[in-house]
Amino acid sequence: MTDYRLLEEQIKGLAEISGEMVSLMSNASALLYEALSDVNWAGFYIVRPDATDKTAQPIVSEPVLLVGPFQGKVACVRIEKGKGVCGTAWEEDKTQLVPDVHKFPGHIACDSASNSEIVIPIHHNGEVVAVLDIDSPLLGRFTEDDKVGLEGFVRTLEKCMEYN
Ligand code: SME
Repeated sequence: MTDYRLLEEQIKGLAEISGEMVSLMSNASALLYEALSDVNWAGFYIVRPDATDKTAQPIVSEPVLLVGPFQGKVACVRIEKGKGVCGTAWEEDKTQLVPDVHKFPGHIACDSASNSEIVIPIHHNGEVVAVLDIDSPLLGRFTEDDKVGLEGFVRTLEKCMEYN
């Protein structure tokens, strides 16, 4: 069982040194990747203007999730609202606990080794500004206890991170 209280203390300690978003997300993904057993990806997608869509018309398009700091294999760069597990967590503003990603309609497979996933929305001023995404090669890797623990971790991160 992961010691989420310890992880919260560790992220608080890191935030006392710097709460800068990229720095804190980088160390948060490293902490989670080390502390959780059987995970093959841990990191963040950040809500951003869709500047990377080279096919978009010059008129400003809707914001998307762009990949942020993470640990694991090279991942999908941009995810639209409502797409995949991450885009669903963003649209619904609700944690997605997915015991079998192959049964999740529209799941985006970044690493074919992934079988289960949890995605938690991150807020600033009441809006979803990013999501925390963790993947596992095991089916049903994430439990209700992990959900509660990771949501607590994200609440701590929201309090100490300087969003930019
Ligand atoms: N599986 C995610 C995409 C991100 S990767 O897992 C890192 C999804 O369906 O949104």
